[in-house]
Amino acid sequence: LPAEAGQLRIDWADGLMPVLRSIRARFERERPLDGLRVAACLHVTAETANLMRALRAGGAEVVLCSANPFSAQDDVAAALGSHHGVEVRGRRGEGVDEYARNVAALAELAPHITLDDGADLVGFLHAQRPELVGAMLGATEETTTGLVRLRALEAAGTLGCPVYAVNEARTERVFNDYYGTGQSALDGILRATNLLLAGRTMVVLGYGYTGRGVARRADGLGASVVVCEIDPLRALEARMDGFEVMPALAAAERGDIFVTVTGGRDALGPRHFERMKDGAVLANAGHFDVEIDLAGLRGLAGSEPVAVRPLIEQYDLGSKRLYVLASGRVVNLAAAEGHPADVMDMSFATQALAVAALARADGSLAVEVHAIPAEIDREVAQLKLASMDIEIDALSPEQEAYLRPFDHLP
Ligand code: ADE
Repeated sequence: LPAEAGQLRIDWADGLMPVLRSIRARFERERPLDGLRVAACLHVTAETANLMRALRAGGAEVVLCSANPFSAQDDVAAALGSHHGVEVRGRRGEGVDEYARNVAALAELAPHITLDDGADLVGFLHAQRPELVGAMLGATEETTTGLVRLRALEAAGTLGCPVYAVNEARTERVFNDYYGTGQSALDGILRATNLLLAGRTMVVLGYGYTGRGVARRADGLGASVVVCEIDPLRALEARMDGFEVMPALAAAERGDIFVTVTGGRDALGPRHFERMKDGAVLANAGHFDVEIDLAGLRGLAGSEPVAVRPLIEQYDLGSKRLYVLASGRVVNLAAAEGHPADVMDMSFATQALAVAALARADGSLAVEVHAIPAEIDREVAQLKLASMDIEIDALSPEQEAYLRPFDHLP
């Protein structure tokens, strides 16, 4: 039964999420979300299911929709509905229209708090139902891409509720982006293709936290890594981290596998496709499916792509064939299972505590994009260390006094 299979996966992930478990237990005792409607537009995974359980334990009414037409784990959605009282909209492979209808349906429930992975739900509320935003306690956002959208609203003076930038919490950024995507993007590429990375050249476009995670892991598996980056400092870091750095046009001729992680659009387009080798594999690990210009690729091919394996489409350019994974959708979620539960433990613990902080503030927070309070970051990191049986030192009062004049330094 799908729901039973989903529950087994949720339980497995739960076993790897000790920090979120302890917060769920605390929420059960303290009920910080009693009477609140919480709507989440997140990837429907076993890890997300455990976040939903924590919010339910805190007393919230919880509804969830998928943050991507390709990422939902349908058995998990079934289990959330039948075992945990969480209404879920969205299924794997749904069309873009169905996706948009699900987001709209959640917005119509007039949530007090929203959780987003890409800002689609809170973005829809701002665009279509601004009167509902004014009544919200706030929102949380899980991605760099989503924060770009929300900061644009803030800059335009049209942001309507406080937002916690979960993505920029220290417990999130390093672990999700560097370790989480670093490993799971490769997991998706390997599951889809079963390619040997050793001896191949992987081109990583973008050297933010995610790009450096992908580059480091690919290097560890024996690939030669080439990095393309538009920021001079990051480009320099990539070089000093041991990778070749060059413009994308030059890298296009070199790569066997390309991974876009820019957060922007059209990192790879027709000019690059024209230079690529026969058999090159293209994957995207950024949030939206716009980093590889697929319309441009279809234009060059002059015909529709052919599915040659699950999650692999072949574009025949006459002189060569190029292979796109998961239709350019975020490859770690579309072709694998997203970030491992061990890292989602921290980001979703941070999410849960950010939601509780919004509830506690009860509308008193300024309407702007807020950093996650440092205490939340510290608490999550301490709980994670404790779960790993790791103890650390504390400064003596003399050491603290010595360092205080440098407090302003990073
Ligand atoms: N984003 C990346 N990995 C994820 C996961 N495992 N669950 C939910 N959202 C994710």
